Amino acid sequence: MPDADSLAHSECVADFIREAIASAGGSISFAEFMHLALYAPGLGYYNAGATKFGSAGDFITAPEVSPLFARVLARQCVPLLAPGTDSFILELGAGSGALALDMLKALPEFGVDAQCYSILEVSPHLKLRQEQLIRSNRPELLRKVQWLEELPSQFCGVVIANEVADALPVERFQKSADSVRQYRVTVEDNRFSWCLEPAPPFLEEAVLHIERTLGMRLPDGYVSEVSTGLPAWIADIASRLDRGFVFLFDYGVTRREYYAADRSNGWLRCHLRHRAHNDPLIYPGIQDLSAWVDFTALAEGATEAGMDVAGFISQARFLMNGGLEAELAGFERLSTAAQLELSRQVKMLTLPGEMGEHFKCLGLSRNAGAATPSSFVTGDRTHQL
Ligand SMILES: C[S@@+](CC[C@H](N)C(=O)[O-])C[C@H]1O[C@@H](n2cnc3c(N)ncnc32)[C@H](O)[C@@H]1O
Repeated sequence: MPDADSLAHSECVADFIREAIASAGGSISFAEFMHLALYAPGLGYYNAGATKFGSAGDFITAPEVSPLFARVLARQCVPLLAPGTDSFILELGAGSGALALDMLKALPEFGVDAQCYSILEVSPHLKLRQEQLIRSNRPELLRKVQWLEELPSQFCGVVIANEVADALPVERFQKSADSVRQYRVTVEDNRFSWCLEPAPPFLEEAVLHIERTLGMRLPDGYVSEVSTGLPAWIADIASRLDRGFVFLFDYGVTRREYYAADRSNGWLRCHLRHRAHNDPLIYPGIQDLSAWVDFTALAEGATEAGMDVAGFISQARFLMNGGLEAELAGFERLSTAAQLELSRQVKMLTLPGEMGEHFKCLGLSRNAGAATPSSFVTGDRTHQL
């Protein structure tokens, strides 16, 4: 059970959402509910004080597991940021700031002095935490970091986003033989509950697009999610990047796997104190809500905006191709305790049952001018997208 303070906070968030539902006439779409539960100003999960990341929080992300993640990614950025090219890095949704800090520490070791590390973060609360983390560890690095309010109008460089696409609100739908219905959230006895209504045209079109591109009809009664904002999100980034590379990491699958007949109850994932479950309507504001990512949708949005898919690969492969072994040089000279800790981190990042297989990296390029980063050289699954 969450503690009393957390429960009290959740009640405030619930009140806020109940008011939104009342002013909307009795129900809101699940995407609206997810948006409010995560991002309601000063209240939502990402906009208020909960710890969120790491062992004291609700879930753990790759940069929180180990600096190895940032160090391999930094190695991959080297040819893309080599002297004479633009050394601009833009991280989207930087969470606690761990990836930014570890990248900034690692890049000079690999001969690259990033002139500017920009962060675009929607949560004012997390911006503060990111700044505090860098200030308390390596204050001299702060002069390289800038927080943006919006994407630059045009830019060149490298874009990084770890577990951001899964945090974008999704619509939940049910398909029947001749119609699409939208899952909405209403209030019954002061608690949130689901109701189904005919889907608005944009959602109907999104489901038809899935069926058209897969060349099949979804089965009668099939329930799933679609991130209707995802294509525009990536297209916006892609269309502003004149020259450069994008690394998108997330847990997700191809569209064919996402909408497979046996996955008939969707891909929502909620996290509360390291317990994963699939009831997004409880504990609003104090649990993380997310949905696995349809990587085909990301690739589609990016290619329609003129970028090329450079690779689509499991996180384990990304790390192993990208320099993990080099990072472990000297392992045998470490103390037993340090070896055990490093092994734990490597296992967590790479084992198929941990983060190795469910997490993928989609690499996108536009006039990048360098060979494909080595992380995509073997095990590329672009053909499956
Ligand atoms: C699951 S957390 C991941 C944090 C971090 N990247 C990590 O790996 O630990 C999602 C992050 O994305 C941010 N976010 C959500 N939507 C965003 C958007 N449209 N643009 C930028 N950041 C966003 C959240 O505030 C949060 O920092």
